[in-house]
Amino acid sequence: MELKDAILNRRTVRRFSQQSVTEETILDILDAGTWAPSHGNNQPWEFFLIGPQTRKKLAEMYLNYMEDGPLKNPDLPEERKQSMRNFAQNFGDAPVLLAVTYAPPKTNLEQYDFPLATAAAIQNIFLAAWEKQIAGVWLSFGMNRKVEELLKIPENGKIAGLLAMGFPEVKAIPPVQPRISAKDKLHRLP
Ligand SMILES: Cc1cc2nc3c(=O)[nH]c(=O)nc-3n(C[C@H](O)[C@H](O)[C@H](O)COP(=O)(O)O)c2cc1C
Repeated sequence: MELKDAILNRRTVRRFSQQSVTEETILDILDAGTWAPSHGNNQPWEFFLIGPQTRKKLAEMYLNYMEDGPLKNPDLPEERKQSMRNFAQNFGDAPVLLAVTYAPPKTNLEQYDFPLATAAAIQNIFLAAWEKQIAGVWLSFGMNRKVEELLKIPENGKIAGLLAMGFPEVKAIPPVQPRISAKDKLHRLP
């Protein structure tokens, strides 16, 4: 697959088939993450593969979080709420659930750089996965302190993303989310 095809065709997927993903494949995809650039090659990322016990607790927390927040939105159509609820119950039955974290920053520079480099690693992970017909969703739920505690993230370390991944369920690849062209985002400085 050409790089540009992977970049343009990658989609966030929230429903998965039960086809398993081998640990070898997971490691191969994560290795692509480690080839992201980082300041002075400091490689601040860590990968946590979430097992069934932790996942059960995390799914309960996620469902509560969704029920207490996004699912209370009266403007959301019932159908949309139901699909969000279905996803939240067990992360769309994704066979792989991962947290990508970064080391506790010790300086202002690290505070700036660590999340950026880790986000670059996550994008590499999604692109390398897409090449293998594996997809997923990057969840912001890791921003919650309770999630950091559950996953035992070192004090002041942060979760850059919770990633639910697997082979997409047939027909689960959502439509393209439109993009604003770079031309309209380009600002020229004197
Ligand atoms: C930092 C970040 C956080 C995200 N958080 C969530 C999330 O909490 N829940 C979710 O369903 N999707 C989440 N997404 C996925 C976006 O909704 C998705 O990337 C966007 O709608 C564009 O769709 P595409 O990835 O298919 O192009 C997140 C993406 C990023 C980069």
